[in-house]
Amino acid sequence: NKEKTLAIIKPDGLLGNHTDDIKKAILEYGFSILKEKTIQLDEDAVTRFYAEHSSKNFFSSLMKYMTSGPVVVMILEKENAIADWRALMGPTDASKAKSTHPHSIRAMCGLDIQRNCVHGSDSLTSAQREMSFFFRELSAVKLEDTW
Ligand code: CMP
Repeated sequence: NKEKTLAIIKPDGLLGNHTDDIKKAILEYGFSILKEKTIQLDEDAVTRFYAEHSSKNFFSSLMKYMTSGPVVVMILEKENAIADWRALMGPTDASKAKSTHPHSIRAMCGLDIQRNCVHGSDSLTSAQREMSFFFRELSAVKLEDTW
């Protein structure tokens, strides 16, 4: 019973040249990358994508971070993809991931609670919303298409 989830390599992941290592870990963990593209998010896209965080105190900082450079968005598929991708990413706070989840992606390339390198959908409902957000109604500027 295969499941799909949305993964994002965030701007710090691309700027730090972690894309190839992250994709290697994804494939080694048994995911298929069904779709992939590199895009630059604008403020409108971030506001809509992170709508649930729009009233948080870190939102303006999150906006700056997520618009600071291109991101890679991917649809991953495997059995139990949503939970397994979150397990492979490790905890949100990348600074803690280094001691508690040393083999996770966030331990490998994340910096702190904001610059945590990758994103993954947290439920079936958000996976569906996030996959169609990036692969159907897309409003962000498309830089490159690799699928
Ligand atoms: P993500 O899992 O993509 O969901 C929301 C993002 O906001 C999160 O990863 C971090 O990049 C960022 N974030 C979450 N909590 C905080 C926080 N307390 N301070 C700053 N950024 C945060």
